[in-house]
Amino acid sequence: MAYSKMVEKAQKPLKAKVSLLEGEDILTASQFNREQLSVIMNSAAYYEKALAKKKILRDMDGKIMAALFFEPSTRTRLSFETAMHRLGGSVVTVAESAKAQTSSTAKGESLHDSITAVDKYVDIIVVRSPIKGAAEIAANAAEHPVINAGDGAGQHPTQALLDIYTILKEKGTLNGLTIAVVGDLKYGRAPHSLVELLSLYDCNFIFISPKELVMPKDITEKLLSKGLKVEETDNLLKAAEKADVLYITRVQKERFSTAEEYERVKDSYVVDDSIVEKGKGGMLILHPLPRVNEIAVSVDKCPGAAYFRQAGNGVFIRMALLTLITGNLL
Ligand code: NCD
Repeated sequence: MAYSKMVEKAQKPLKAKVSLLEGEDILTASQFNREQLSVIMNSAAYYEKALAKKKILRDMDGKIMAALFFEPSTRTRLSFETAMHRLGGSVVTVAESAKAQTSSTAKGESLHDSITAVDKYVDIIVVRSPIKGAAEIAANAAEHPVINAGDGAGQHPTQALLDIYTILKEKGTLNGLTIAVVGDLKYGRAPHSLVELLSLYDCNFIFISPKELVMPKDITEKLLSKGLKVEETDNLLKAAEKADVLYITRVQKERFSTAEEYERVKDSYVVDDSIVEKGKGGMLILHPLPRVNEIAVSVDKCPGAAYFRQAGNGVFIRMALLTLITGNLL
């Protein structure tokens, strides 16, 4: 299986390669080039192999990461924290919600001020916010590297990196694939970042969504201008017949202005056993999680259902990012 081969072959990246990312903030998927992506993928595989061999790693020894999550998170936050702990570093944090009474955000402090202060305490800052563009504000306020862990309906670059790592492991390549992206393509930051990253490779795209939730025009036009094939449809079954990868996302309830608007579209697409049966052979099913109703639980046992393996890969990708951008990959 491609999985073990890629990880088995992983070597420690050369110093010259590591420096390609040193000092960078991670704000948007469009900031990367192919060479940087290859360094990140190799470094993640190198860490995956090291953990599989039960190595004790100290690359971030003495370093502190701030996890500032002003919006709910389970996987992203815990995998960043796990990554830091696995590397011998430590984590400081505030409660999950901006409304929580434990941080100064609840007192009306601006993100800029919070970050300017936190930057004096730590070596690296991970920030999630309901506001598009928040990570950029944080990066402008901080001297230390900032990682965008999701900015409203904007971008989620670290999710996209673990998504392509998963595709590479499971399919052995990113080229020549038909990628079907289903669900809330308007507000979903995970699909926004994913297709931006994949646009560096030779992929065909099929976007499946209700008409209210289509992919933003600027993103689709960017793909087309690169000569990539993009098909937009509302027919999930037809798309599944052609898809090497079926990437399904939750309708982003928190971004709707009224409950009625959300109710109208919330269960538009469900991947069930019949979609898997009629879908292309070997189709990989991905989901950034959390799942609401988009994938029937019975699908979990299919060999192509990779969403929990995908979540597991988040730790390796985040270990790679933490060490690469701080220059601590030993
Ligand atoms: C995604 C997010 O927060 O954008 N989840 C995640 O980070 N794993 C997707 C979602 O919430 O639907």
